[in-house]
This record gives sequence, C-alpha cells and structure tokens, in this order.
Amino acid sequence: MNSARILRGVASAALRRRNVEMVIIAVLVVSIGSSLLARVLPSKEQWVSRKNLEPKELRPSLTLCTTFSDNPARFEVHSQTVYNWASLRPRLRPVLFAANLSSDLSLLAKSHGWEVQRVTKADKQGMPYINEMFKHIQAHYRSHFYGYANGDMLFSRSLTDTTESLPALLEGKSEQYVFVGQRRSINYVDMLKQDKEFWQPDHVHKYSCTKGHTDPPTSIDFFITTPFGFPWDTLPKLVVGKTRFDNYIIMMAMYLFMGTVDVTGTVHNLHMTGGGHMTHKDSGLADQSANERVINSFGRVAYELGSVANCKYFTRNTRNGMQMARLLQWQIPASFRGLQSERKETTKRNKKRKQGKKQGQEKGKQTGKEKEIEKEKGKEKGNRKQEKKQ
Ligand SMILES: *[C@@H]1O[C@H](CO)[C@@H](O)[C@H](O)[C@H]1NC(C)=O
Repeated sequence: MNSARILRGVASAALRRRNVEMVIIAVLVVSIGSSLLARVLPSKEQWVSRKNLEPKELRPSLTLCTTFSDNPARFEVHSQTVYNWASLRPRLRPVLFAANLSSDLSLLAKSHGWEVQRVTKADKQGMPYINEMFKHIQAHYRSHFYGYANGDMLFSRSLTDTTESLPALLEGKSEQYVFVGQRRSINYVDMLKQDKEFWQPDHVHKYSCTKGHTDPPTSIDFFITTPFGFPWDTLPKLVVGKTRFDNYIIMMAMYLFMGTVDVTGTVHNLHMTGGGHMTHKDSGLADQSANERVINSFGRVAYELGSVANCKYFTRNTRNGMQMARLLQWQIPASFRGLQSERKETTKRNKKRKQGKKQGQEKGKQTGKEKEIEKEKGKEKGNRKQEKKQ
C-alpha cells in the first residue's frame, strides 16, 4: 500500500513538472502524423470514385485483342470467334481491331459486346502491327493481363480461369511474363455439321481434348503478357497474320530475361482450320514473308528457338489448384546423390580393372599410340625451343 502511494506521488509530480513539454510534443506528433497520412491516403471522395471505376467482380482479368480478315469466305470462321469470346465476358474483354468499323464482322462483334477499334497503324496489306495493338489496349483498358490471339482461336473458360489464378501465383515475383501455349486444330466445317454451337466454351473444352490435334510447338497463336511487361517499343514493326512474328516474340522474351510460361496444360483451345484452302494465313494476303525480311535486317535467327517447348515455366492443374513450376530445373534430388556416387565408384573401379588388364597384356611393349604420343612430345619440345630462339 505504501509503495503504491509513493509511486502515485512520484508520477503526479513528474506530470506536473513536465506537463507543458508533454502537451507540446503530443500536439506536434498528432499534427505532423495526420498531415502525412492525408498525403498518403486518398480522400473519401477519391476512394468512392476509384471503387466506382472498377467494381472488382466486373473487372476483366484479361483484355484479348485480335483482327479479322475482310475476305467474305472468312466470315463464318470469324463469327465463331465472335460468339466464343463474347461468351467469356465479362471476365475476358474482347477487342477487335478493324479497318472498317461498319463491316458485317465489326457490327456483329459490337452487337456481342466486343470493343471495336479502328486500325490506325498497318502495313500495305492493311495488317496491324502487333506492338501498336498491345500499346493501344494497355493504354485504354484496365485488366490484370493483356493478350493477342489469332482471329480463328476459340477458348474454353480455362483461359480466364488461368488468368484469374495467375496473380496469386505471381505474387512477390518481380519478373515480367509472357504466356503462350500450343494450339489444338480442328476442321470447323466438319464441326459445324455435328454441332452448330461448337464455339460454346464448354463444347470447346470437350472437343479440344477429344478431337483437336496438337500442332507443333512453334505454331503459336496466342500471347498474353503482364501489364507493360513486354517492351513493345524495342521490337521491330511486325504485323500479325504473317509468319514468324510469334517465334520472334518468344525469342525476344527469352533474350530480355522475361519469364516465359507454357500454359498449354491449363488453357484449352481450338484453332479452326478448313473451309477450303483458307487457313489463318489467308491465301488472299500478299507478302507473307514481310516479318522475316524485317527480322533478317537485324541478323538471321533460328526461329525454332522461339518455341513453346523452350519456355522457362509451365502451368498445371493440381488437386490444390493451379500451379506454376519451372520447366527446366536441373537440380538433382537428394535421393539421387547416393546413386550418383555409387555410379562414379563403379566407373572408377571398371577403369582400373581395364587398365590392369592392358598392362598385363602389353608388359614391356610400347604400343603404337604411346610411341606417337612420345613423338608428339618431342615435336612440342622442338617447337618450344624454336620459339625461344625467335
Ligand atoms: C465498310 O463496310 C460496309 C459494309 O460491308 C461497306 O458498305 C463499305 O463500303 C465499307 N467501307 C470501306 C471503306 O470499305
């Protein structure tokens, strides 16, 4: 009891003496702190307007752009793409780059909720530049990822499932990424005969697994990147719809130390072929080798390096959800080390045994090989002497 009374007395005395200083310090701390906070935190109105701008549940995880051929023979193919991408909204935001905003395909896309943009920068055949397309969608739309796919590619919901799972998988990583995958081809004329709505995402999922055939890993029909992940300004002017821009982009991504990710395992797709000899390389399209000319002007490259098979990472679905893992990780599991040292020992023993045999067989004899070696040594000595003289 006594000690408590003494303590209280000391405390109140200290307070009385230091009252003024403490009040000044408290006022300073509170005023400086609140002014700093006001700078860092947005005002109440700013909060509200930011929230209104992008309601989280409606924000697309992927903005995916493409361009269509004006050839009337391609209308049927591209219209399947319009229906398919539209049905992946609002998680996917489809963007069409069109030369003619009032063409049948542009109007069809618009009526299905696509964003339709006029192509401003294109080559002589009207094909848009891939870097301009990416720069445009990055500047005009908000999403977690930005991508391009050819106008004859259909996807299942696994595409948006992947782009929605990726942010959590990439958290804490500072790398920039390019995501690509192998395509599965199908004849769309045959498909339409069997199933008028084969473009439905669920149907695409099914047919991709059962009917699609896998194309080589160097035929790449879609790219997805992290926002501003790919330095598009450093790329030469490559156009879509002509060969080799796809391989070159992967090669550049590797060269620039970006993370290249093979998403074949988690993105089910269908590449539509058929309809006569019309493929995505439209037969009416002139100057197919335009990209190769541009790239070769910087030096020849081996295009097969720009392959899905050379990606650094890959995605896969597991019981615990989607995972991203390293494709080529040459780390030897600890359990293998024992095996390795055993193997080394056996090799050493075998070598010794062989040498022992040889020595036994050819005791006292000098083999031809050894003579040659002696000769070589002699020559070397001679050469060295000559060098010294010089
Ligand atoms: C755009 O498409 C519409 C509809 O097909 C056509 O009437 C018009 O001539 C086209 N415009 C140009 C500039 O090609």
